[in-house]
Amino acid sequence: MNPTTVHVALDARSYDILIGPGLLARAGEQVAALKGVRRLIVITDTHVAPRYLERVMNSLSAAGLQAESLPPLPAGEGTKSFAQLEALLEAILEKQPERGTALVALGGGVIGDLVGFAASIVLRGVPFIQMPTTLLSQVDSSVGGKTAINSRHGKNLIGSFHQPLLVLADTDCLAPLPRRELLAGYAEVVKYGLIDQPEFFAWLEAHGPALIEGDAEARRHAVEISCRAKARIVEADEKESGKRALLNLGHTFGHALEKATGYSDLLNHGEAVALGCVMALQMSVARGLATREELHRLRHHFTETGLLTHLSQIPHRFSAEALASYCKQDKKVKDGKLTFILLRGIGHAFITQDVTEAEAAATFAEFGA
Ligand SMILES: NC(=O)c1ccc[n+]([C@@H]2O[C@H](COP(=O)([O-])OP(=O)(O)OC[C@H]3O[C@@H](n4cnc5c(N)ncnc54)[C@H](O)[C@@H]3O)[C@@H](O)[C@H]2O)c1
Ligand SMILES: [Zn+2]
Repeated sequence: MNPTTVHVALDARSYDILIGPGLLARAGEQVAALKGVRRLIVITDTHVAPRYLERVMNSLSAAGLQAESLPPLPAGEGTKSFAQLEALLEAILEKQPERGTALVALGGGVIGDLVGFAASIVLRGVPFIQMPTTLLSQVDSSVGGKTAINSRHGKNLIGSFHQPLLVLADTDCLAPLPRRELLAGYAEVVKYGLIDQPEFFAWLEAHGPALIEGDAEARRHAVEISCRAKARIVEADEKESGKRALLNLGHTFGHALEKATGYSDLLNHGEAVALGCVMALQMSVARGLATREELHRLRHHFTETGLLTHLSQIPHRFSAEALASYCKQDKKVKDGKLTFILLRGIGHAFITQDVTEAEAAATFAEFGA
């Protein structure tokens, strides 16, 4: 089966996202077709290496490419750190890379963000290729060129914009993903429907449960529609001076919840985003912009697929005031104003800067904080 191609049009930084089953085993032929890539250094984590590293290395070698891999990095968010970045850069330099040496990020968003950042600074920038293996990385982090590591001041505060040369989203990788990881990515999929595609939201209502249970064609379709949506928004606003902020729907609320739970196992990013999307819709209903029926539809859909919709589902005591103050510390704060994405109904998101801390606190309180 031929993969689906989504083109991201960004002038000289344009690239293709290929989506479909079996792509990792055919990585070599896709990479060999790229101009200017002579050597490859493949970087992955300890969970992904035993499943896919050999497959990718064999395919690259079979296509006549000079490829080597580094010892797998520890799996998990902690790997997006200065310490790991330094060790990675030194390990890459040890291999004596040249400008035509591409880094390959084989793994989830953690590997993609770290390797993308390393690629943007080593030798003042080398090409990189994304081979995302989680639903979240296939529908979100591998597309759009944002790279980052975390600081003790917060997540993703140190990074760059560095677009990949190619994204290979092998949908077979989604089969062994733990359900919680799958659902985290699914929250971002639903987000695209909420932003500007009411018909995709309706499709998810019909097919989401089957997708979660393993329907491979539904998964492929959802990855494709999500990548098309993200590509469209990134093409319109690559560096987030305007419209790209729509992709933060649910994220200002969500980041506050993640901070309150200490970025711990209590709540992962996708779960926080799902809750944040419901909160954004709730605030929109309170402002008379969306209907109670729409709020009910979203709650029902998340409940049916296994995502959270109320803070009482998390074994943690939240304070509405503290959460609202965390919203102020979000990266997206401009001139001290809170930026929120609200909805004039499902599929009609817009950016606003007139939300006060008190209004945010009232919304958190509605959810049991
Ligand atoms: N750059 C962006 O635009 C952007 C957007 C959204 C999120 N992110 C970042 O992405 C990161 C989260 O990404 P993630 O959810 O992919 O996390 P992750 O990379 O930690 O992967 C989740 C877990 O799944 C494992 N895994 C990966 N592929 C697997 C597979 N096929 N089967 C079984 N297990 C597998 C990983 O080893 C890890 O333990 C966060 O750091 C977030 O900040 C970046
Ligand atoms: Zn997100």
